[in-house]
Amino acid sequence: MNILIFSDEQQLTEAAVQLILQAYERKPNLVLGLAAGRTPRRLYSDLVRAYQEKKIDFSLVRVFALDEFRGLSPNHPLSFAYYFKENLFNHINLRPENIFLLNGQTEKIDDHCRFYESMILQTGGIDIQILGIGLNGHIGFNEPGSSFGSRTRLQILTPETRANQQALFQAQGEDPPTMALTMGLATILEARNIILLATGEDKAAIISQALEGPITISLPASCLQLHPSVFVFLDELAASQLKRKAFYLYCQEINKREKLPIVIL
Ligand code: F6R
Repeated sequence: MNILIFSDEQQLTEAAVQLILQAYERKPNLVLGLAAGRTPRRLYSDLVRAYQEKKIDFSLVRVFALDEFRGLSPNHPLSFAYYFKENLFNHINLRPENIFLLNGQTEKIDDHCRFYESMILQTGGIDIQILGIGLNGHIGFNEPGSSFGSRTRLQILTPETRANQQALFQAQGEDPPTMALTMGLATILEARNIILLATGEDKAAIISQALEGPITISLPASCLQLHPSVFVFLDELAASQLKRKAFYLYCQEINKREKLPIVIL
């Protein structure tokens, strides 16, 4: 695991964008998996800036959404489809046929999920999967108890995940959805590279458990310990409970000198 610690969110996202740009230089038709949520917002706005500065052209890039709330239309302001339009798609030159989203309103859930998996395979697989982490250790909406063999499917949300969404949905006069469609843990682990982003003190405990604790389905993000190419981008607060923090910083310094690490393509 490449655990990278930065003094603030700006430096962290700049470094994550650099990694994506390096990959893009080598593979202009990159396949990206995209998480929604608070954490990657700045990464997406920095990618938009990189596009405006002509450092990246998205015309050949393919993107897959990591998850979507069950029941929401793509026009619902809290759907992830809407989030991606607002934060990324409306501002760059992705081709509509290269955007793959999970349909929260599909009536044929199993068929839809299987089709989604087949589209990932058809593009040659995800090169870089961007992830955030939930306070209960979920990645995507793979809640605790999700099998490491799980694939894209419908997942019931835990009360704590719904509670985290409560304020946003309440502002719309709605209750948070009870379910979501999500790529499974096995789907995520098949990505060639994974970028996990975490910022803020509230993520510190779960980050140290996920990266340094036992591998268990009780903490879905711990499965990332099994993946050969994970890049964890943390700010000081999210890194504050890591036991081997000094060693990670030491490695980061050496890697910087050696111009490592690089993504596997
Ligand atoms: C979002 C997703 C979730 C979030 C996680 C953290 O697509 O799959 O796993 O990444 O809940 O959310 P934030 O970033 O809002 O703290």
